[in-house]
Amino acid sequence: MHTFVFGLTLFFGLAVTLLASAQGTSIQQKVIILLGPPGAGKGTQAVRLSKELGLPHISSGDLLRENVSKGTDLGKKAKTYMDAGQLVPDSLVLDMLWDRVSKPDSAKGYLLDGMPRTIPQAKAIDEHLANAQLIVLNLDVDDNVLVKRLLSRVSESGAKRSDDQPEVIQNRLKVYHEQTKPLISYYQQKGVLKTVNGDETPDNVFKSLLNAYKEQAK
Ligand code: AP5
Repeated sequence: MHTFVFGLTLFFGLAVTLLASAQGTSIQQKVIILLGPPGAGKGTQAVRLSKELGLPHISSGDLLRENVSKGTDLGKKAKTYMDAGQLVPDSLVLDMLWDRVSKPDSAKGYLLDGMPRTIPQAKAIDEHLANAQLIVLNLDVDDNVLVKRLLSRVSESGAKRSDDQPEVIQNRLKVYHEQTKPLISYYQQKGVLKTVNGDETPDNVFKSLLNAYKEQAK
């Protein structure tokens, strides 16, 4: 009898261990990158996607603005670049990102909004991710629509953001075309990018993004 009970316990113990380890290998960290020009709706959609997918929303712009408002060393260094519509140096934003993604809520994965913005940032993220599943969702919106959206945010909010000034908006778009747009072909070549029309209602854009995510996540 004792031998039977011992054998049964051993069998179930082994089964539980095998199941747990099988589950462990099936949980792959998911990293979603929302790519798009200024005003494309990255922030608007990231909030919804993050809720839907249960992954933290990490916005490089929000993190930088938080640092500026707290007057940290990073904030002091970043402010001049941000106010001019220029990109903050790669090393500063990457250190800020590593710090953020080391928090426990990022273990399952996370959603990046506004990052990467340069090829060196993308390469650094690739190296850092190693085994994670990367899904890049690109929001496509024409420049004239973007300018209208950002200018209407200025008139609605009274330019709460120091970079929501007409001439700075033009510079943000120029910087996007020169330094961030090349990421589209970078990720296309890796086969991880889906482009969605961002010039629809926010609800429709959300549906398209979710479908694109599901196709890539298969
Ligand atoms: P960041 O904060 O990332 O700003 P951005 O890319 O310029 O984008 P926005 O936040 O203005 O637009 P969005 O695409 O999020 O659209 P949103 O949802 O807000 O970066 C700011 C600065 O920080 C940079 O210039 C740089 O200096 C620095 N920085 C940040 N990340 C960096 C990095 N990785 N490296 C270096 N520097 C970095 O929507 C915009 C407006 O449109 C809103 O009013 C919204 O209500 C409206 N809207 C949204 N969707 C729709 C829709 N479907 N139809 C109509 N209106 C819509």
